[in-house]
Amino acid sequence: MNLILLGGPGAGKGTQAKKLIEKYAIPQISTGDILRAAVKAGTEMGRKAKEYMDAGKLVPDEVVIGIIRDRLAQADAKKGFILDGFPRTVPQAEALDKVLGGLSAKIDHVVSIDVDEEALVTRLTGRRTCKNAACGQMFHIKFTPAKKEGICDKCGGELYLRDDDNETTVRSRLATYNQATKPLIDYYTKKGLVRPIAGVGGIDDIYNKIVGILGAGSGCACSCGGGKH
Ligand code: AP5
Repeated sequence: MNLILLGGPGAGKGTQAKKLIEKYAIPQISTGDILRAAVKAGTEMGRKAKEYMDAGKLVPDEVVIGIIRDRLAQADAKKGFILDGFPRTVPQAEALDKVLGGLSAKIDHVVSIDVDEEALVTRLTGRRTCKNAACGQMFHIKFTPAKKEGICDKCGGELYLRDDDNETTVRSRLATYNQATKPLIDYYTKKGLVRPIAGVGGIDDIYNKIVGILGAGSGCACSCGGGKH
């Protein structure tokens, strides 16, 4: 199964991706995570990307398209993948179609998670993320607090507030989403791929809805009926 999770900042893409990768045993590919790793490593790409990220703007298309091209070519992506935070512009979606065409692959579903904007601001300003990149589990100080404040339940790593999770940057990210990323709903609707999901309610309820839409029964969520991947 090749899946795109689409939705505004804080819609729950990462939260749901972390649950879905366990069920389907395919990798989560998050451009945000890859860019944050480059920032942390202090690479030239990371230094340039940080300026855009801190301002709530998009990193230039050619940079993220290059990242995705390299990542999809890796062996673990052959059995399927969950794209989280990519594509974010129509040119990125068009580039993805080309990359997948070259790999004789295609997108099976685009799950579009819808959450009201003020709820997104509350979610992001209260989010705490595990510093351990191999874990990266998200918590929320009110909705899903860690058992021990500041410590990840899963791996014991330290929790932190992302640099771009302050209200000013969150509002800029929302404006960027509305202007550049929302048009992708139309782009993929025309291809018959969009599966809309209301992203409010319990995390497990939303997960169950997604799995229901993807067709959990066959063990494969694409149209192959379960036998081809
Ligand atoms: P990225 O890291 O992709 O950020 P984002 O899209 O803004 O998404 P988030 O990770 O903030 O939110 P999410 O939807 O994963 O929500 P989560 O599950 O954590 O990108 C960051 C930056 O990198 C961009 O601004 C841009 O600069 C750059 N970038 C990345 N990709 C790019 C690209 N393709 N092109 C150009 N630039 C790119 O949940 C949020 C919170 O809500 C958590 O606390 C969680 O616990 C809580 N929560 C989740 N579900 C629920 C629920 N049902 N009820 C209550 N709380 C919930």
